[in-house]
Amino acid sequence: MNTNKKMAAYVLTGHGNMDKLVWHDDWPRPQIGAGEVLIKVHACGLNNTDVNTRSGWYSKAVTEATTGDAYGVVHEEDPTWGGGAIHFPRIQGADVVGTVEAVGAGVDADLIGKRVMADAWLRNWDDPTDYENTGYFGSECDGGFAEYTKVDHRNVLPVNSSLTDAELATFSCSYTTAENMLNRTQVKAGDRVLITGASGGVGSALIQLANRRGAITIAMASVDKHEDVAKLNPSHLLPRSPDHLANALAQTTGENTVDVVTDIVGGPAFPDLIDVMSRGGRYACSGAIAGPIVELDLRTLYLRDLRFHGCTVTTTNVFRDLVGYIERGEIRPVLAETFPLRQLHAAQQAFIDKKHIGNIVVTVGDTR
Ligand SMILES: NC(=O)c1ccc[n+]([C@@H]2O[C@H](COP(=O)([O-])OP(=O)(O)OC[C@H]3O[C@@H](n4cnc5c(N)ncnc54)[C@H](OP(=O)(O)O)[C@@H]3O)[C@@H](O)[C@H]2O)c1
Repeated sequence: MNTNKKMAAYVLTGHGNMDKLVWHDDWPRPQIGAGEVLIKVHACGLNNTDVNTRSGWYSKAVTEATTGDAYGVVHEEDPTWGGGAIHFPRIQGADVVGTVEAVGAGVDADLIGKRVMADAWLRNWDDPTDYENTGYFGSECDGGFAEYTKVDHRNVLPVNSSLTDAELATFSCSYTTAENMLNRTQVKAGDRVLITGASGGVGSALIQLANRRGAITIAMASVDKHEDVAKLNPSHLLPRSPDHLANALAQTTGENTVDVVTDIVGGPAFPDLIDVMSRGGRYACSGAIAGPIVELDLRTLYLRDLRFHGCTVTTTNVFRDLVGYIERGEIRPVLAETFPLRQLHAAQQAFIDKKHIGNIVVTVGDTR
């Protein structure tokens, strides 16, 4: 099937700066095997994992905040999210939305022609709870910064929605990550949830998904983004790094503690986040954009009976639940800007500059 057919693609050729992302007009189109689907890509969202993998930020040798620039000290054996080496060339891009063009043996042919979203978690489908054997779309296999991609049919779901392709491409990575954090910390109605990086992809997802559960959401974001973040209806807004977090919380919300912290920022502000947690409070982390090495006073951890949750691989229900929320209009996309795939460098630079709210997406060919 599709033997010798070519496609356009942005190909990551190694760790380094943006010049490692190279455009090709004549890259081989993926060949599907049993159980797989061939997707004609319409839109693909950008994520920090694209930047972190390219720059080598996941390497244990790197201790700084994410900047998007190459790090000189990367250990070649550990520069991916999973701690292993990556194989080049690699087409990145996790947040794929497109039409199923062909299916492999054993896949329901009714999928052909359907518009689908992809769950980015590559699983051992004989045992989807085998979290040791997982990979990420666009990291351990080629992803969506191309005209075509392929994936196991159990990774895709048709989506019945009036949202555009680009709008749908804002959801998968950020919202499954956010929902996983809320599941792990068992967020329920009335919980006071402090959200860092609330203007970004995961943060804007956390506001909407925690609101959906009836939680009291306290969103931390740069003050110049507050007007736009307010449109997502957080219960309260705080600056990105208040001088005294407990006082700022008390002044803004009437209480100086929270039940849950959902953190994707980390870095120097981490001790302040931990200090405002109430007894038995739950902390969830799925990112460390301000820096991965933090200071923890263990007395606070044990004397306050805190519970810490590292959040990466999701359970299989999370993506299915997300598609339901989208189809029922319970959450809305926060699409900052779109770029044609050919302008991936400009799209990624805008993503790194962080002047936007929500997600940036590249579009491919005709979109709806
Ligand atoms: N574990 C997983 O599976 C998973 C999945 C998705 C993302 N992540 C990670 O989660 C993190 C956030 O991802 P994202 O997609 O939400 O990123 P994003 O869209 O880039 O948003 C991050 C937000 O953090 C804030 N921020 C950036 N640098 C900061 C700093 N030095 N100090 C304080 N705040 C800062 C910015 O908001 P303001 O300008 O408003 O301050 C920015 O909007 C990344 O580290 C990413 O790698 C992990």
